[in-house]
Amino acid sequence: MAYWTTGVLLLASLARRCIAEDTGSSDQEATEALEKKCPDYGKWSRQFHAPFSNGIHNLSSMRPVPACRTFNSSVVEDAIEKTTEAIVDPDLKKLFENAFPNTLDTTVAWRGRSMNDSEEELAFIITGDIDAMWLRDSANQLHSYAPLLTASNANDSLASLFRGAINLQARYLRTSPYCNAFQAPPESGRERRHNGAYGGYKVNPPYSWDFVFECKYELDSLAAFLQLSHTYHDKTGDFDFFGKFGWIEAIESVMAVAQNMTDQPTYHPNGTQLEASYMFSRFINHGYGSPVAANTGLIRSFFRPSDDPVLFQLFIPANMQFSHFLRLDADIMYKLQDQAALADRMKEMAANVRAAIEEHGIVHTKQHGDVYAFEVDGYGGVNLMDDANSPSLLSSAFFGYLDRSDKVYQNTRKRALSTYNPYWMHGPAISAVGGPHNGQEMAWPMASIIRILTTNDSDEIVQQLRQLVSSTDQLGLMHESVRSHNASQWSRSWFSWANGLFGQCILDLQERKLEILKMSFQQK
Ligand SMILES: *[C@@H]1O[C@H](CO)[C@@H](O)[C@H](O)[C@H]1NC(C)=O
Ligand SMILES: *[C@@H]1O[C@H](CO)[C@@H](O)[C@H](O)[C@H]1NC(C)=O
Ligand SMILES: *[C@@H]1O[C@H](CO)[C@@H](O)[C@H](O)[C@H]1NC(C)=O
Ligand SMILES: *[C@@H]1O[C@H](CO)[C@@H](O)[C@H](O)[C@H]1NC(C)=O
Ligand SMILES: *[C@@H]1O[C@H](CO)[C@@H](O)[C@H](O)[C@H]1NC(C)=O
Ligand SMILES: *[C@@H]1O[C@H](CO)[C@@H](O)[C@H](O)[C@H]1NC(C)=O
Ligand SMILES: *[C@@H]1O[C@H](CO)[C@@H](O)[C@H](O)[C@H]1NC(C)=O
Ligand SMILES: *[C@@H]1O[C@H](CO)[C@@H](O)[C@H](O)[C@H]1NC(C)=O
Repeated sequence: MAYWTTGVLLLASLARRCIAEDTGSSDQEATEALEKKCPDYGKWSRQFHAPFSNGIHNLSSMRPVPACRTFNSSVVEDAIEKTTEAIVDPDLKKLFENAFPNTLDTTVAWRGRSMNDSEEELAFIITGDIDAMWLRDSANQLHSYAPLLTASNANDSLASLFRGAINLQARYLRTSPYCNAFQAPPESGRERRHNGAYGGYKVNPPYSWDFVFECKYELDSLAAFLQLSHTYHDKTGDFDFFGKFGWIEAIESVMAVAQNMTDQPTYHPNGTQLEASYMFSRFINHGYGSPVAANTGLIRSFFRPSDDPVLFQLFIPANMQFSHFLRLDADIMYKLQDQAALADRMKEMAANVRAAIEEHGIVHTKQHGDVYAFEVDGYGGVNLMDDANSPSLLSSAFFGYLDRSDKVYQNTRKRALSTYNPYWMHGPAISAVGGPHNGQEMAWPMASIIRILTTNDSDEIVQQLRQLVSSTDQLGLMHESVRSHNASQWSRSWFSWANGLFGQCILDLQERKLEILKMSFQQK
């Protein structure tokens, strides 16, 4: 989700090539040969490819040919085969087939081993059309394959991909925990790019353009690392891994940021300014953003998961995600030797943040009763809205902070999906939550998918699926956003996160609502 692609419709702003897996310098030539041979997926994903779906939406095939795929997994191929068999509608079938493997097909830009430890796996996973690894996006991209990860395939390549991503994220977080997106590691020999040129902004603390792509402090990036760690442990039962390669130090680093961002309000008690540990020069108030009150117990964030600046820094969805997964990761830490004290601290911090959310994050509204706020400032300033990017208020029950039946969650969900949400984008082509990142009228399929994942109401699910199937502009991939009144206008042809999430949602429906996969989506 890059700040600098804002508003660019119908055009992916940066193209990259299809890169083969490369595990050593001897493969370098093969990689280069593939780069030449394989079409640029940014362009390719804006063109039609046979065979078509044969449904009324006549959807294109969008998987690169096998030789151009960046990762092969038999577990994933088996799941695709099994699930497409269960789907009756030809358009839904094609959409699933294209979307689910998109991260593996196109974004595993490099895999290898650490230069300092040949046991340590690394995986560099790009967002899609931007050649950089976002902490949040890469975690979410892998997350869509979590349902297929098990203790019995914990030694397979899919599990290795998770470990490689966790190791690389941990490396980034040990040195630059305030940054959100990173370059390829030096081991890869890949050309490294960064986002420094467009900025002209100053950030504190300083960081190196040698490996940072951009440095926006987003609490949810830290939480994404915590979530990915939990997911891997939860699915495989493997905890030894976490004691081997600097994961513990990464957790310490993440907690140090969270501690400072909890303890540092805008003013000292005597009224002088307290210079927080992070500063981004384009923010108001000399780079520190709108004032934050003392002693709320909530963690500050300067940016949202859209990479857009916050209005108020106490961003509730990221606090939810952070506290939930810090608590769960404490259970990993307890299993590691001599780490009980750190695990205790994790548990305590998680509980404090949760208590702070419940105290400061809930607001009473006339229309919906008690709801969670999107952002607060601790002075009584409240931003009541929801944004499509996850973590959001809508997704808080998907990632597990709240139970789906929670009364306040249900109220919040109703509001987010109504015109009381200033970013509710609705029209005949698609109605879903959007956000300021792509602006008015642009609804995000991702939010529609999260809506399916957080309800048991079959009518609601079918309605969402129908609009998703019919709004891809015949391309058969999930776009970042789609104009609510005209599905021919959209942003980003190559955005892997939303595609994987769609696939995950279909796997989920296969478990809990198989009858919906048997339905027809052939009426307009
Ligand atoms: C489907 O779309 C392709 C590409 O636009 C086109 O060539 C083909 O004729 C279409 N098929 C049908 C049945 O409309
Ligand atoms: C995936 O498998 C195909 C053959 O089916 C092969 O050509 C390709 O190189 C493989 N990709 C990777 C990254 O190993
Ligand atoms: C590898 O070790 C060397 C020497 O200690 C160090 O300078 C370098 O930063 C390490 N590389 C990585 C990627 O950690
Ligand atoms: C994975 O590999 C390790 C080390 O070789 C072995 O101890 C373990 O039993 C293997 N696990 C599975 C599920 O095969
Ligand atoms: C936390 O703040 C202290 C100063 O109060 C500073 O020395 C330290 O480097 C900061 N740590 C982080 C991770 O920001
Ligand atoms: C205000 O309080 C802070 C924190 O206690 C202290 O460091 C600073 O010197 C004080 N400034 C003045 C002008 O009193
Ligand atoms: C659907 O209902 C089941 C059984 O009551 C429940 O366990 C599950 O969490 C519900 N799922 C959603 C998305 O509401
Ligand atoms: C929808 O958008 C497309 C692409 O910009 C445009 O050609 C078409 O005229 C628009 N349709 C309507 C009804 O405005």
